[in-house]
Amino acid sequence: MNQNLKNVVGNRHPMLLAAAEQIFGAGGKKLRPVIVFLVAHCTAQRAGFKELTDKHRRLAEITEMIHTASLVHDDVLDECDIRRGKKTINSMYGTRVAVLAGDFLFAQSSWFLANLDNLEVIKLISQVIADFANGEISQAASLFDTDITLEQYLDKSFYKTASLIAASCRSAAVFSDSPVEVKEAMYNYGKHLGLAFQVVDDILDFTQSTEQLGKPQGQDLASGNLTAPAIFALRKSPELLDIISSEFVEDGSMERALQLVRENGGIEEARLLARQQADLALAALECLPEGPSRRSLRLMVDYVLERIY
Ligand code: FPP
Ligand code: MG
Ligand code: MG
Repeated sequence: MNQNLKNVVGNRHPMLLAAAEQIFGAGGKKLRPVIVFLVAHCTAQRAGFKELTDKHRRLAEITEMIHTASLVHDDVLDECDIRRGKKTINSMYGTRVAVLAGDFLFAQSSWFLANLDNLEVIKLISQVIADFANGEISQAASLFDTDITLEQYLDKSFYKTASLIAASCRSAAVFSDSPVEVKEAMYNYGKHLGLAFQVVDDILDFTQSTEQLGKPQGQDLASGNLTAPAIFALRKSPELLDIISSEFVEDGSMERALQLVRENGGIEEARLLARQQADLALAALECLPEGPSRRSLRLMVDYVLERIY
């Protein structure tokens, strides 16, 4: 899959060859294609298929391609220099190349998507790209907004993360000719797994180092992106509310805010939220027959909760 992805970018545009290496080389967890493969395996087995089809494989590639395109553009918006432990395209080649490389990946993934010749899947996946834009816009509109509710945070997280995972899980079920109840269950599995993933991602931003994450630590709070740990701590700490509302103008206020998030149980409450979402993902698996594939989908939920980078 990795080699296919590099070829897609590099063969057509030699100028983007170096970018392809940066984008699809070592570093990424490739979590989304793994989830697609597991759901594909599970649903195909249920339907009596012997092996995964080429469409399942191509779906996994498209999912990673769309995800990566969104990160290339995200790093432009966030002016970020490091991703997956490597320098970003925007920091190496400038904003123009990064915008073009991201556009190219989105365009190429649309083309591959159309060539899967399945209108149901085209509708599912193209909705995701609209959701990304929606999520990014609502995030930009709510920076430093201390009135943000948990519900708004979960909506935003759905748009920017869970939508892609949910749609690609459902699409994998579509390519296994699954009945509607299995397709819906796989969508819900992907949605809640995706939300758990994002909540954990937001916790790690507070708890891990830049080296561990492969991207800058503490970015969310500093840029005014209020995530679960901060939202929970805000309910308990008027001092935190003041500091965030004043956008960290005073020296040392950023460090103080981080301390207040920790002292007011923001991390612990966010972990409970991730656990709730993980349980909803597990519940969605109940319509599948017990067996090694279903066990793998359960293990994926454990991994998402326990990962440290
Ligand atoms: C990462 O969030 C951001 C995304 C997954 C979505 C990015 C979407 C866009 C840039 C919009 C693309 C627009 C169109 C029209 C397709 P983050 O910055 O919180 O994550 P990070 O910590 O990994 O950087
Ligand atoms: Mg970012
Ligand atoms: Mg961002």
